[in-house]
Amino acid sequence: MSTLKSLANPWIGRLQTYEPGRPVEEVARTLGLADAESIIKLASNENALGPSPRAVEAMQRAAGAMHLYPDGGAFYLRRALARKLGVRSEELVLGNGSNEIIELLARVFLQPGDNIVMADRAFLVYRLVAEAAQAEVLAVPMKNFTHDLAAMRAAIQPRTRLVFIGNPNNPTGTLVDGTAIDRFMDGLPDHVVVVLDEAYIELLPPGQQPDTLKYARADRPVFVLRTFSKTYGLAGLRIGYGVAPADGVELLNRVRQPFNVNAMAQAAALAALEDDDYVQRTRRLVKEERAWLESAVAGLGYGVVPSVTNFMLVQVGRGRACFDALMRQGVIIRPMDAYGLPEYIRVTVGTREQNVRLVAALAAWRKQEP
Ligand SMILES: Cc1ncc(COP(=O)(O)O)c(C=O)c1O
Repeated sequence: MSTLKSLANPWIGRLQTYEPGRPVEEVARTLGLADAESIIKLASNENALGPSPRAVEAMQRAAGAMHLYPDGGAFYLRRALARKLGVRSEELVLGNGSNEIIELLARVFLQPGDNIVMADRAFLVYRLVAEAAQAEVLAVPMKNFTHDLAAMRAAIQPRTRLVFIGNPNNPTGTLVDGTAIDRFMDGLPDHVVVVLDEAYIELLPPGQQPDTLKYARADRPVFVLRTFSKTYGLAGLRIGYGVAPADGVELLNRVRQPFNVNAMAQAAALAALEDDDYVQRTRRLVKEERAWLESAVAGLGYGVVPSVTNFMLVQVGRGRACFDALMRQGVIIRPMDAYGLPEYIRVTVGTREQNVRLVAALAAWRKQEP
């Protein structure tokens, strides 16, 4: 062991590391399987349809220009997004996944001694970026696996700078509606920035998506985060964005790398954004298969947290042991102990074929651990 840890900033050594979903190839290696094809991954809430065909074509066309740096200002993509969302290009900032935007927000708004408000069962990355910035985390208990916005509002302190609301939330799959958000935003103290993380929002039919962009348009201190990783099926490319008042975008532009979003990702995202047919098919698949999976899992006698997204929490008893058992059957899901939910696993909604395999694996676990 080197001396590097003793030389590092001490709070870095204390940070919890994020446990990502395990790649299929690694699991195949661990299990000694030559054939990675037989393994299914339902661990990272990816799009079961694969990438949008239009995005794939755009990437093939773009491949020949990969010797060139990308457009650091993502001009065409921001223009297309601005048109689609009804905001100005200046109100958009692109990131290497929306994860990068979450990090940039911590860089811009947090200093040691500040704090963030988040729900106790919300996306772990909020906590990680806050702790890396030496800010404190005020974790507010959820109610029924759903953000309790009144309690979160009451938790705000003078040194609170960021409030994170995952909507829909990962890992619970629950949504707070527009009325609840309006109530939360109404008369909010003016020293806090609200981050509405909408990574999964496009999976909902437009009529069920709360209108939060209106706050950015009205120059309220908000960042609405979206991503191409989920509904648009481009998780491997790492591309997401934030919508905020132009002065907020300008602050993030000061700290981001000049070429933070690669050219392939920009080309693919631009094409995917126009692929309405793919988005419709994604919504349909998620809706139908989620209902099927919820009822099949409930049929095994397991509790399920009703979800509006492409994943759900299932109460299986010993979550980590269940994760290990399913992995041995070639089904990768996510244990939830890192979220303080050791009795649960989180499963991504897959294709029917994948879901059938998941349910069979869960049934086998049920027999082993009634
Ligand atoms: C709630 C939430 N926010 C943000 C992200 C990050 O997405 P990405 O960095 O792929 O855009 C995820 C990914 O799982 C998520 O679940």
